[in-house]
Amino acid sequence: MTEVMFSDQVAIITGAARGLGRCYALDLAGRGAAVVVNDLAGRGADGVVASITEAGGRAIAAEHDISDPEGAQQVVADALAAYGRLDVLVNNAGMLRNGRFDELSADRIRDIFAVHLAGAFFVTQPAFRAMREAGYGRIVNISSNTSFGMAGLVNYAAAKAGVLGFTTSLAIEGRPHGIGVNSVMPNGATTIMDDEPIPGFEEDTQFASAFEGVAHHFEPERTAALVTFLASSKCMASGQHFSSLGGRYARVFYGVTEGWLGPDSIATAEAVGDHFSEISDLERVELLPTSIGDEFHAVSEALAGRTPA
Ligand SMILES: NC(=O)c1ccc[n+]([C@@H]2O[C@H](COP(=O)([O-])OP(=O)(O)OC[C@H]3O[C@@H](n4cnc5c(N)ncnc54)[C@H](O)[C@@H]3O)[C@@H](O)[C@H]2O)c1
Repeated sequence: MTEVMFSDQVAIITGAARGLGRCYALDLAGRGAAVVVNDLAGRGADGVVASITEAGGRAIAAEHDISDPEGAQQVVADALAAYGRLDVLVNNAGMLRNGRFDELSADRIRDIFAVHLAGAFFVTQPAFRAMREAGYGRIVNISSNTSFGMAGLVNYAAAKAGVLGFTTSLAIEGRPHGIGVNSVMPNGATTIMDDEPIPGFEEDTQFASAFEGVAHHFEPERTAALVTFLASSKCMASGQHFSSLGGRYARVFYGVTEGWLGPDSIATAEAVGDHFSEISDLERVELLPTSIGDEFHAVSEALAGRTPA
């Protein structure tokens, strides 16, 4: 593939003062993008801007809280005021508020949804409007493989799974306007877990040892390679989810089993119970829907093909 470049393009990375976001910002800037480095005030966005400009790149800091609709709006306003356009948005800002489910306070639940999910909505709305006007855009939403299931992080896992639904549906709205929207389950050694130990993590020795087996490949740059590609004009995929783990890159999808087509009359709970193994049987994955219409289409075909009773 020819070089992935962002000459004349403008990118916003939220939560980019450190960790993975910083790495995405440096990579995009090194490939010609003017980068808007968002983070909370006092977290060091200026330092990332300095690293970029000292290397000959273009960047500004946008120190606003993206969980606040006005702060989020201001990040996009700063980008447009400084550079007059917006091509790329990476919704990366995040933090943890871990705890066993039955002990999670209302604030720890709300804060997670406010940053990871509502925050992504608040930044993306003004960004999407600017991209729609230009007829081009790339949005990369940062999810997490905790969406597959992880104890001690139920609030976070739920918000990050929400990011997947956000991605799939927004991709459908973006398609007519040249806006691609994908999500990434990243991995990288950062300080995000420093003040938020995961309850029960040490006890899950199987996971802890698998974690060790991957940890030596935890450079954030490995994930930046995927995010940068998805953020570029070379990427024509949209509405898709990807995982970056230990240097292995893969697509993540929802699947629907062939299931059990119930009777024409309304099925009973007992009948569902009788057919439960057929309903759950992963050997018979039939459909990888990319929209709600795909599943409706599959069932409508099955119903149409049924031999009349
Ligand atoms: N590190 C991993 O292995 C991993 C795994 C899965 C998902 N993630 C996700 O990747 C993203 C980056 O994680 P990281 O490990 O680099 O974390 P990090 O803590 O190093 O960086 C996250 C940044 O987001 C900023 N931030 C938090 N709330 C904000 C807000 N309201 N407004 C603006 N900025 C805000 C923080 O100040 C911080 O600088 C997060 O969304 C995280 O949930 C990380």
